[in-house]
Amino acid sequence: MNFSFLQRNRSATGISRFPPFLVDTHAHILPALDNGPETLDESISLLQEMSMYGIRKVIATPHIMGDYYQNSVSDILQAQKHLRAELIRRCISIELEVAAEYYLDVSFLSTLENNQTLLPINDTYLLLETSIVGMPSFLEEAIDLVQQRNLIPVLAHPERYHYLQQDFEKVRSLSQKGVLFQVNLGSWQSTHQATRTLAERLVSEGLVSFVGSNVHNSRDWGHAREALRSKTFAQSVEKGLLNQHLL
Ligand SMILES: [Fe+2]
Repeated sequence: MNFSFLQRNRSATGISRFPPFLVDTHAHILPALDNGPETLDESISLLQEMSMYGIRKVIATPHIMGDYYQNSVSDILQAQKHLRAELIRRCISIELEVAAEYYLDVSFLSTLENNQTLLPINDTYLLLETSIVGMPSFLEEAIDLVQQRNLIPVLAHPERYHYLQQDFEKVRSLSQKGVLFQVNLGSWQSTHQATRTLAERLVSEGLVSFVGSNVHNSRDWGHAREALRSKTFAQSVEKGLLNQHLL
């Protein structure tokens, strides 16, 4: 078995020089549900790499997005059941929980208004994403509806949204409303300057509650793995991430 991933996270004395990353809270890892792995084997291969790196729990967050990804709660739970069984069969030691990444559109708004079942992380945190370009006009209404369900809204990868890159006051305003932020590990090394700048600023201002790989394939995992050896990751841990509390 190849342990190079684990070895690369350790110093010559065998003690890691980097903080551990034990819980990944944003991963497209369930097979054939969205733009993540297409097959069970691809899912297993990614989870095996993550396990060998020291990750102990992955929370799968498949997209739920209008007509594109109409994943029902039962589809997601069924996929979790199959993948967990395969992990056990292949003796891969990693916990697999499920939630979803909800795209903020009118269909999500009607899910909230009709009080339909949701899949939050740890029964508490609802992972939300928006259009990259423009802030949805009903963003605040959606946040209120999520909070009325006694859930905490978590905005996925805020650093990627143009409307936040251009206006940090909007970031502060969302934070003051009780929105938490999840930054993608790969964003700290993004070639897109505005994404990298906002990702770093969110950390330095102590506004990052979760970091996630947002893994869809082995290339994404490679970028996330690189970021786990960065000063910015260490700084985000120092400022107090909530990831490890989900173990
Ligand atoms: Fe995602």
